[in-house]
Amino acid sequence: MPDTEQSKPETGHTEHPDTPWTPIHGQPYRSVPYRPARMPTSESLAQAAELKERMRERRTVRQFSTDPVPPQVVRDAIACAATAPSGAHQQPWTFVLVRDPEVRRRIREAAEHEEQISYDGRLGEEWLAALRPLGTDEVKPHLTDAPALIVVFQQRYWLGEDGTKHKHYYVDESVGIAVGMLLSALHLSGLAALVHTPSPMRFLSEVLGRPENEKAFAVIPVGYPAPDCQVPDLVRKSLDQVLVEV
Ligand SMILES: Cc1cc2nc3c(=O)[nH]c(=O)nc-3n(C[C@H](O)[C@H](O)[C@H](O)COP(=O)(O)O)c2cc1C
Repeated sequence: MPDTEQSKPETGHTEHPDTPWTPIHGQPYRSVPYRPARMPTSESLAQAAELKERMRERRTVRQFSTDPVPPQVVRDAIACAATAPSGAHQQPWTFVLVRDPEVRRRIREAAEHEEQISYDGRLGEEWLAALRPLGTDEVKPHLTDAPALIVVFQQRYWLGEDGTKHKHYYVDESVGIAVGMLLSALHLSGLAALVHTPSPMRFLSEVLGRPENEKAFAVIPVGYPAPDCQVPDLVRKSLDQVLVEV
């Protein structure tokens, strides 16, 4: 059984050094007991029903108040997101929390430059038609009105100690799940958010000085809705339309 650091394959994982090794199919593996208390069914049903209602109330907000938000609430929501499952537990995400007004101004300027080109035709007629019910355009005040931006980056690969590039697996899926958990955590903590995906997003790496292995995934303005906030009148698919039971 491998029991030395030398026999451990390089994985990029952070591990608890004191947990003993156990073998699985001849490979080193460290396990810990997992025994969560089982929730009574009545409580499960009540929790699920309440969560469904609370999540139903979540809306994408594009008009933000400039009121500050408690930074710790945002950090805790990011900590929730960072508990997400990920392909091979590679946790291929970086969350950059931007509160500095000057950096937000630079992000807005660069985003509006790209969005102007997109709305002027780069998106194509079909995409523009899909966006029309949302009432969006190239002007993005949420990037400077919202008191915080979370810029999410995907780590496309990780670097070994000798500088070798190692592939990350299921990066899109993993980061998408983490962002879903982030949006849920923000909403359940009383904050509003928007997933903004200006295309292309390269300017975010430049403005925020991110390394080459990271690729921007989304900018998420976070704050409180403006007092006169309006949201598009959208209808969500019913459970019957999205659930297939076999
Ligand atoms: C991957 C993704 C990208 C999005 N990109 C944008 C965007 O660039 N700009 C925007 O205003 N909304 C964007 N949205 C928000 C969607 O338009 C919004 O979630 C959808 O209209 C449903 O509204 P709801 O979130 O209020 O339920 C994006 C959402 C997702 C999941």
